[in-house]
Amino acid sequence: MKSSVLASACALFLLLREPACLGDEVTSKTVNPCCHFPCQHWGVCVRYGLDKYECDCTRTGYHGENCTIPEFWSRVRQFLKPSPDVIHYILTHFQWMWEIINRTFLRDVLMRLVLTARASLIPSPPTFNSKYGYLSWESYYNVSYYTRILPPVPEDCPTPLGVKGKAVLPDPELLVERLLLRRKFRRDPQGSNLMFAFFAQHFTHQFFKTYNRMGLGFTKALAHGVDAGHIYGDNLARQLNLRLHKDGKLKYQLIDGEVYPPTVADAPVRMSYPSGVPPESQLAIGQEVYGLLPGLGLYATLWLREHNRVCDILKAEHPTWDDEQLFQTTRLIIIGETIHIVIEEYVQHLSGYLLQLKFDPTLLFNSPFQYGNRIALEFSQLYHWHPLMPDSFLIDGDELSYSQFIFNTSVLTHYGVEKLVAAFSRQVAGQIGGGHNINGVVTKVSVGAVKESRQLRMQPFNQYRKRFNLKPYTSFKEFTGNEEIARELEELYGDIDALEFYPGLLLEKLRPGTIFGESMVEMGAPFSLKGLLGSPICSPEYWKPSTFGGQVGFDIVNSATLKKLVCLNSRTCPYVAFRIPLEEPTHTRSDNNYGRNKEL
Ligand code: HEM
Ligand SMILES: *[C@@H]1O[C@H](CO)[C@@H](O)[C@H](O)[C@H]1NC(C)=O
Ligand SMILES: *[C@@H]1O[C@H](CO)[C@@H](O)[C@H](O)[C@H]1NC(C)=O
Ligand SMILES: *[C@@H]1O[C@H](CO)[C@@H](O)[C@H](O)[C@H]1NC(C)=O
Ligand SMILES: *[C@@H]1O[C@H](CO)[C@@H](O)[C@H](O)[C@H]1NC(C)=O
Repeated sequence: MKSSVLASACALFLLLREPACLGDEVTSKTVNPCCHFPCQHWGVCVRYGLDKYECDCTRTGYHGENCTIPEFWSRVRQFLKPSPDVIHYILTHFQWMWEIINRTFLRDVLMRLVLTARASLIPSPPTFNSKYGYLSWESYYNVSYYTRILPPVPEDCPTPLGVKGKAVLPDPELLVERLLLRRKFRRDPQGSNLMFAFFAQHFTHQFFKTYNRMGLGFTKALAHGVDAGHIYGDNLARQLNLRLHKDGKLKYQLIDGEVYPPTVADAPVRMSYPSGVPPESQLAIGQEVYGLLPGLGLYATLWLREHNRVCDILKAEHPTWDDEQLFQTTRLIIIGETIHIVIEEYVQHLSGYLLQLKFDPTLLFNSPFQYGNRIALEFSQLYHWHPLMPDSFLIDGDELSYSQFIFNTSVLTHYGVEKLVAAFSRQVAGQIGGGHNINGVVTKVSVGAVKESRQLRMQPFNQYRKRFNLKPYTSFKEFTGNEEIARELEELYGDIDALEFYPGLLLEKLRPGTIFGESMVEMGAPFSLKGLLGSPICSPEYWKPSTFGGQVGFDIVNSATLKKLVCLNSRTCPYVAFRIPLEEPTHTRSDNNYGRNKEL
């Protein structure tokens, strides 16, 4: 093993024309010992001199040179703790048991456990970033950086991923083409639909706003969480341009009597459209890239209508309030509604848990939970869920190709909210994990993600497995139950410990009947729940009716659903959900009972 390490080190030196490699007496004494990632169990590697290191095992529950010797309680915990796969199995089976648990105090107990166990994996306050692999004031304080859960691979390592693997990583285009490019559309067995896919994209791009103009590893979304910046803009100037400055409302336009986001001519904010699209056809939205897809325009329209609807309700309650207070209070309600829908419907659907999830910040009031959040680079890499996208878009009897769909400003207004919701709710999305399922139109985004992770020197997939208390894989075969993929990976990477983070997440063997593998869930859920519950509105000072304009506003937050978001803001109430209908509903059956809607 040692000699293969030296051999790969040598391969790199050869590229650099290092004379030491020309003889067979290799002097690799300058290899930074932290390149071996010697410190286990969250221990911190500190280099001393040229070839010495120490692991700081403080409060890890382990000691010894590499933090590998468990203290008594760590040993007990290690022994008693069921594996994530066992816990997942229990949470997704035994319907009868969960029906009882859902109705008792055990629901709260388990929900609290889910939240605290997940959030405890995310350091708070945040730690590293792409420039600082050690704690520093700058990485704490400069919020223009995405944070990092694991520090970058040191610069002076023999291989790009430390000491394992080849000196040169596989060509990203080749990697994506051979392993990620879709051959034949594979649907998500959990039945996620495009309503889910566009919600995912719309929701997450309020806090994933990579800002490469500042440099790699930076973000433009400085609030680092659920701030509804995708509705209101990520800065005050943009917000002011989007606001009507009357009754707290946002600007809008009417098309055939229906409310839509205003045009850029009326709300002068910069939107990313191809050159040649005139301001009169560009929609002005908080997030500058949401002109890209009608699915994003749809959610922008729904939230715009919801904002203005809530403003009317608040104004009726508080006729003395000025525009500013109506706006600000409505924004908090919109943030609360978002978190409610995300936890109780979006995460509920995605998890497949039979435990009925609950958005109730009071669950954490007696726990040592830190409010606040910092978005991590790993979270942004992890959320590249482009396999969700289908091969074409089926709307109201039409089939739209990507070229007819992308940046087409008239799809939204041509079909309108009701038809788009009905269509997106009925069209199944692709399975995210398992490989070979990204439509060729978006594979270049995956190539970009892989390139970014290399430039930012992200640690190998197995290091992240360990960081999230998962067992590192010992072979490609164990990692992906698929012979062909294992063979390809063996050839491309040579060593399971050199497999990269993002390909690891997308190619890991699937949990049976689900949308992706263990790692996506076990790494994604902590980021997600920490971000959702870390919002200031969830803190004891904020979480009370007065923050939301009184009981009426508080009730709106606590009863928000996807269906209400659509059906209180549209004329008819189409089938709306994050999954396709179990059986295709017939046209004679109404899916709803919101009163003011006609048969669809
Ligand atoms: C047809 C649909 C889609 C297209 C055309 C598309 C296109 C893109 C493009 C061009 C980028 C920027 C890549 C770069 O700058 O290197 C991007 C980034 C990203 N996309 Fe998509 N995407 C689509 C759907 C989705 C969906 C459904 C999700 C689900 C969550 C998603 C998640 C992301 C994420 C997390 C990023 C990184 C954002 C950032 O860091 O700023 N995308 N996508
Ligand atoms: C600690 O890790 C280093 C590098 O991986 C290894 O060489 C050494 O033998 C380990 N020490 C112990 C006590 O396990
Ligand atoms: C418990 O929650 C699960 C998941 O939401 C659901 O399928 C089940 O019907 C619920 N049971 C009760 C009694 O609420
Ligand atoms: C954050 O760091 C970047 C890169 O060093 C720098 O350009 C920027 O000004 C810093 N931001 C603040 C608020 O100091
Ligand atoms: C844009 O969408 C409209 C409505 O679906 C369609 O009629 C038109 O052909 C599309 N435009 C392009 C350039 O594909």
